[in-house]
Amino acid sequence: MTSPTTTPLPTRTIGDRTVSAIGLGGMPMSIEGRPDRARSVATIHASLDAGVTLIDTADAYHQHADEVGHNETLIAEALRSWGGDRDGVLVATKAGHLRPGDGSWTQDGRPEHIKAATKASAQRLGVEAIGLHQFHRPDPAVPYAESVGALAELLEEGVIQMAGISNATTAQIREAQQVLGGRLVSVQNQFSPSFRSSDDELRLCDELGIAFLPWSPLGGISSAAELTPGLAPFARVAEAHGVTPQQVTLAWMLATSPVVVPIPGSSRPETARASAEAAALRLSPDEVATLDATD
Ligand SMILES: NC(=O)c1ccc[n+]([C@@H]2O[C@H](COP(=O)([O-])OP(=O)(O)OC[C@H]3O[C@@H](n4cnc5c(N)ncnc54)[C@H](OP(=O)(O)O)[C@@H]3O)[C@@H](O)[C@H]2O)c1
Repeated sequence: MTSPTTTPLPTRTIGDRTVSAIGLGGMPMSIEGRPDRARSVATIHASLDAGVTLIDTADAYHQHADEVGHNETLIAEALRSWGGDRDGVLVATKAGHLRPGDGSWTQDGRPEHIKAATKASAQRLGVEAIGLHQFHRPDPAVPYAESVGALAELLEEGVIQMAGISNATTAQIREAQQVLGGRLVSVQNQFSPSFRSSDDELRLCDELGIAFLPWSPLGGISSAAELTPGLAPFARVAEAHGVTPQQVTLAWMLATSPVVVPIPGSSRPETARASAEAAALRLSPDEVATLDATD
């Protein structure tokens, strides 16, 4: 067991929970290209030691058909072997996607699937109630209100403590808020400097006081290490602060709205630590304005 010397980070709010302003995305540790288990556990421990108290996962973060929940199991294992305050960590998972094992991502938004999958997630995470559960992606074959209705039932049954949605439009955010009787606490959509098409959803979350969790905030697993030439201002600001463009990207996201909680993915302790450090990075209003105008 590690003996953590946790550093408190700036915080944000998701529903009634206070979490670190930057979370950890678990996906790179469980899909194609994933590291071995020991490095994944070290990555999660590095993130927790750095003060991260939000971990994003999903039952569909796995590679082969017979290992549903690979990432949830990994996170549960890493939390068990970590010496810090596990109760202070919010694990946010999802249901609604399936991975048949051929590299594809399929969908099942039927309420009966969502409910059964969520109960299986709770078992894998080793909890009586999941802290935050998010409907992964609207299923065109199922009315949205029915899929989200499953989350309302899970809240009432006490299987989940908070409900969120992912890959949602503004209309779906409003619909989910209604179906959940005002209990929608988070929206997780793709958002990064070069992918801003969820700007309307972010603004709506800001207006409604709902947490907005940008996914692939650094441009995604295969692009995060590089900087698109058009994003040179991020590199210039990074140089001025003696940090990396990826850290500036995360700090800029935090500056866009107090409801934003980025969840950068990591598969190495170094990147997990670097992302956590970005939570304390402050950009000037001029820098934020320049970056706002860069895409
Ligand atoms: N709801 C959805 O539909 C959906 C879809 C996609 C992702 N997500 C969630 O969002 C999370 C983040 O998205 P993502 O993992 O696809 O993409 P991402 O966060 O944009 O990029 C992940 C990659 O960034 C690298 N990285 C992380 N921090 C870094 C830093 N400070 N400096 C340099 N490189 C850094 C990591 O490299 P190393 O691997 O070398 O550590 C990792 O592979 C996922 O893990 C998952 O939890 C949700």
